[in-house]
Amino acid sequence: MKLNEEIEKRKTFAIISHPDAGKTTLTEKFLLFGGAIQTAGAVKNNKIKKTATSDFMEIEKQRGISVATSVMGFEYKDKLINLLDTPGHKDFAEDTFRTLTAVDSVILVIDCVKGVETQTEKLMEVCRMRDTPVIVFINKMDLEGRDPFELLDELEEKLQINVRPMSWPIGIGATFKGVYNLNEKNVNLFESSKTKISKDVISINDLADSKLDELVGKEAKQLREDVELVEGVYDPFSMEDYLSGKLAPVFFGSAVNNFGIREMLDEFIQIAPMPKGRETDEGEVKPDDKNFSGFIFKIHANIDPNHRDRIAFLRVCSGKFERNKFFHHVRLDKNLRFNNPTSFMAKEKSLIDEAYPGDVIGLYDTGNFKIGDTLTEGKDFTFKGIPSFSPEIFKEVVNSDPMKTKQLEKGIHQLTEEGVAQLFTARMGNKKYIGTVGELQFEVIQYRLKHEYNASANFHPLNFYKACWFTSKNKEMLDEFVRLKSNYIVYDKDQHLVFLAQTPGILQITKDNYPDIDFHFTSEFKN
Ligand code: G4P
Repeated sequence: MKLNEEIEKRKTFAIISHPDAGKTTLTEKFLLFGGAIQTAGAVKNNKIKKTATSDFMEIEKQRGISVATSVMGFEYKDKLINLLDTPGHKDFAEDTFRTLTAVDSVILVIDCVKGVETQTEKLMEVCRMRDTPVIVFINKMDLEGRDPFELLDELEEKLQINVRPMSWPIGIGATFKGVYNLNEKNVNLFESSKTKISKDVISINDLADSKLDELVGKEAKQLREDVELVEGVYDPFSMEDYLSGKLAPVFFGSAVNNFGIREMLDEFIQIAPMPKGRETDEGEVKPDDKNFSGFIFKIHANIDPNHRDRIAFLRVCSGKFERNKFFHHVRLDKNLRFNNPTSFMAKEKSLIDEAYPGDVIGLYDTGNFKIGDTLTEGKDFTFKGIPSFSPEIFKEVVNSDPMKTKQLEKGIHQLTEEGVAQLFTARMGNKKYIGTVGELQFEVIQYRLKHEYNASANFHPLNFYKACWFTSKNKEMLDEFVRLKSNYIVYDKDQHLVFLAQTPGILQITKDNYPDIDFHFTSEFKN
């Protein structure tokens, strides 16, 4: 098959949500449709939530290097779909943010009872950075949720995106009868079913048709009114606006009951973008460029000390990846080849000979990679758009076993390279600060330092609010800022300067005092 045909076949996306909205359930239903799994429950064991650290460690150990569920490939209606898994636990949000750099679109799941939640807003902020196209699935329509119009208003307001309902719920909770497909003008009647995966739909070309009353009873009147309002209030679906991340089509359904999912999946394969061009420091690279290129967005280490291997996840961006062919590791200026790259089709991971743009492959790594690394063929460049995000919790690393200083340095270095947490180093002296999104990571680091590196560390809490990367055209002001705030300025993993702000108030005062300096909560930003 030609390169272009391979590219056109592929859709690479992630399902994202605030924990508990139904991401795992929806993932599982997608895999059932795609024939990648045969029974429900297969994805659940990948889930880390509501668990104590010990459980987390146990799960990680069992998972070991079997990362099959991190990327789930399946075929659906001649399309090759790569679904990238994102951790459900909020403490692992940064892992999710990074995964979003490797997808071409997302499906955002909202709980109809809870509406837009904190994690939903944060995830959308990340999507906006690259104008990632978003489809919204409003889930749990079998529960007494909020009014659909109110939910749509909230989506627009809190997520700063226009919405366009593609289907409309008929009743909600106890009175939920099904959904009306606004495009195809048919009714899909709800029937609670956790096993069935296909259903007949009933065409209603004219909502005034009395057939509707027979089908949904007194909810028919409400549906007619609602649809009139929808068509009056919302602009028609615009492909262009969707692809540029300005407009989110919205579907309603119930993941656990397998309802409303096929409709969304069918629409998804029609409208979701195929692999797109990507920005590099040398301009845009198109997927159909015949030279291979890709970047590392995730590193998964086996935490079993007897099997200290790591897998680096690479997103193919252009050309064709081939097994045993030399590619250039730009940061290390080194040619590398891979004799056992893996893909993650269905639930097994398997050896591959080639991969195409949109694909995610696993490369066995002996310490060559860190997140954001680029592999190329022919020409050198580095992909942009794989930023670090400001952590929310900061602690200083305190060596609690001076005899094991070397081991500690190595452990901290490798774990932060994997992206478990971020490392910041003081400009003077040797102080090291770790930044994370959640407390759980500190426990994970402590456990892994002990078990994998035979080192031990304590963490002293630090009172910082955000890490701010900063830029300015005013060199004089920049120099003065760095000099006067030197106690609060550290280096990140790439030796960029970062200002650690103690409180939102202090950050504001600093901004006021240094008006020519721009402060950013990510290491990359739109100018
Ligand atoms: P997450 O990955 O986003 O964290 O959510 P997950 O799919 O695990 O779903 C969270 C809970 O919501 C689960 O219940 C799940 O069964 C339930 N759920 C998902 N979709 C629907 C839906 O359409 N309607 C209703 N009523 N519930 C739904 P749980 O009790 O936490 O887990 P489980 O014991 O059911 O597996």
